Amino acid sequence: MKMPSCFSAHQHASNLSPAQKKLQGLWQRGCDFLGSRYGILGGAMTWVSERNLVSAISNAGGFGVLACGAMSPDLLRQEIIATQALTSRPFGVNLITMHPQFEDLMAVLIETKVSHAVLGGGLPAASFISTLKKSGIKVICFAPALIIAKKLIKNGADALILEGNEAGGHIGPVSTSVLAQEILPVLAKELPIFIAGGIGRGEMMISYLELGASGCQLGTRFVCAFESRAHPHFKQAFIRASARDALVSVQIDSRFPVIPVRSLSNAATFSFLTTQQNIIDKFNKGLVDLKTAQLEIEHYWAGTLRRAVVDGDTENGSLMAGQSVGMVTQEQSTETIIQELLTQACQALETRTLT
Ligand SMILES: Cc1cc2nc3c(=O)[nH]c(=O)nc-3n(C[C@H](O)[C@H](O)[C@H](O)COP(=O)(O)O)c2cc1C
Repeated sequence: MKMPSCFSAHQHASNLSPAQKKLQGLWQRGCDFLGSRYGILGGAMTWVSERNLVSAISNAGGFGVLACGAMSPDLLRQEIIATQALTSRPFGVNLITMHPQFEDLMAVLIETKVSHAVLGGGLPAASFISTLKKSGIKVICFAPALIIAKKLIKNGADALILEGNEAGGHIGPVSTSVLAQEILPVLAKELPIFIAGGIGRGEMMISYLELGASGCQLGTRFVCAFESRAHPHFKQAFIRASARDALVSVQIDSRFPVIPVRSLSNAATFSFLTTQQNIIDKFNKGLVDLKTAQLEIEHYWAGTLRRAVVDGDTENGSLMAGQSVGMVTQEQSTETIIQELLTQACQALETRTLT
């Protein structure tokens, strides 16, 4: 079903309805910063956010973010160039600071004249941020707490993403609503701040914008876009799932840390528990040392996101998904997803004006 369009592609600014003008005003700062028509980022998703989905999001007026994941610098270069060929609109590139070739990847961003870098996976050093900024790249960082947000601003971050615990993939312990309340009132005047995690509808975006956010980042909602390369089995798992299926990985022993990841529960989720137990039993019997046992547990999930997204193995792969997965009910075009969000946002604003 085609939704009534909130903003049409050719609509002139002078023809906007009061609700459209209000929405534009709420995220103008975010749009100016991103260079996009709307303050909607399509969050980087390893194996999912490649040239097709990223360019489709940017072409539809949002801001796509390419996932580097574990790509080599050569592969990343190819993917950036291919994305640039598919869109003339700005898009970002997500780099993980723990990547062993992080500095080479930064060099690729500079060489290919990428406009925005989204740095994840730990606190990026001030020297990394300044290297990118000196080359004209705007730097967006994840802030999982107020104190880290302040440190990132000191280190030179141009914008922040607050990603709460409802999100799909690697997560922190705090919910999106609490992060937003703790950080937006204190820092929203200083720099653009985008909110991520658990956002499935336009009405929710409005609430964060009214708290001072400059825009919102969504991941889960874009997985089932026609332009997403995710395997049909992966998409079907999303369409079938409800919020309560998107669970955080479980750690069974405090000596053996497990990285918190939110994903749909499947056979791999349950066998992870028995795997942990078997490894811990071996450690308790003195058959392996602590470090070896910890590494074995850490390695359990290696390569499993690819297995699910690319190969379609939804039982043994990692089905990273956020709690908003219940709001993913069908495959749709990227354009339709964005238009739905805009329509819901405008309708929410119209209701507010009427009451
Ligand atoms: C399948 C999947 C893979 C993801 N991979 C990454 C990644 O490589 N880098 C990253 O910064 N965030 C990653 N994320 C998080 C998204 O970029 C985004 O912030 C998150 O999905 C927003 O929350 P939502 O899922 O509730 O919309 C991933 C999320 C999903 C669902």
